[in-house]
Amino acid sequence: MQTFNGKTALITGASSGIGEQMARQLAAGGCHLILVARRTDRLDALASELGAVTVDVITADLADPLAADDVFERTQALGRQVDILINNAGFGFQKPLLSLPMTDQLGMVDVNVRSLLALTQRFVAPMVQRGQGWVLNVSSVSAWFPIPGMATYAASKAAVLHLSRALHEELKPFGIIVSVLCPGGTRTEFSSLAREKMDPDLEKAMMPADRVAAAGLQGLASGKAVVVPGVLYKLMVAVTRVLPGAWVARLAGSVMGRHH
Ligand SMILES: NC(=O)c1ccc[n+]([C@@H]2O[C@H](COP(=O)([O-])OP(=O)(O)OC[C@H]3O[C@@H](n4cnc5c(N)ncnc54)[C@H](OP(=O)(O)O)[C@@H]3O)[C@@H](O)[C@H]2O)c1
Repeated sequence: MQTFNGKTALITGASSGIGEQMARQLAAGGCHLILVARRTDRLDALASELGAVTVDVITADLADPLAADDVFERTQALGRQVDILINNAGFGFQKPLLSLPMTDQLGMVDVNVRSLLALTQRFVAPMVQRGQGWVLNVSSVSAWFPIPGMATYAASKAAVLHLSRALHEELKPFGIIVSVLCPGGTRTEFSSLAREKMDPDLEKAMMPADRVAAAGLQGLASGKAVVVPGVLYKLMVAVTRVLPGAWVARLAGSVMGRHH
């Protein structure tokens, strides 16, 4: 990933999965890093492995409404300029509305949407002043599907998709590239949290996290608005454009919203 050589990327959710893979790939291309998540031990371990570039660690719980301001101020205190913002942190429960407490429902909205929006506004303002910057938001193929049985997560990712597509156009005149990465099933710790037990049919369709991370970074480097890694998931997205809306929701519920 030579495009970002010498630049600095801030990655949320860098302690595992897709975010960790993005950190490794960016560091391999000479990009300096600021790693954000709750598990400081994981971030510190990763930072010490990526010794060739400058890496700072910021511990933050992005469910906290003050976290975005705090993260921004800590980058200022470190004297770091952020050229690339990667809003990757997120989580989801595969649970029907009435089976999941409201604190968990709102937690998904807080981390997946609110913190992403607040971080974007904070870090994009100085990028606009410099006339250059990159933002990569991690959504999901779920964004295209209302998913009965996983409604809040899918809706949170739809918000990220729509926000990102609009900002791609809104910020283009200022030299800012906004891309949204929409992974399908990806082998990470996400699946163990989202599901108590993985459906064997879905397990077969899972992609490795390094491939998904690479697709996102390449898409960002080439200025793509939307990146959907994998042929299967591109087809799934295409299907939503031709089927009636009610069919799409029923189909999504039977495939992605099943409970075990
Ligand atoms: N895996 C999939 O199948 C899949 C599919 C589509 C989209 N996605 C999206 O991909 C993104 C990355 O997920 P992943 O699959 O790589 O899962 P993962 O391995 O569970 O990673 C999630 C990351 O988000 C961080 N995070 C979660 N809650 C946080 C909070 N309150 N504050 C700060 N950081 C928080 C976690 O760090 P800490 O726990 O250390 O805080 C972790 O680094 C998410 O936005 C997810 O929705 C995943």
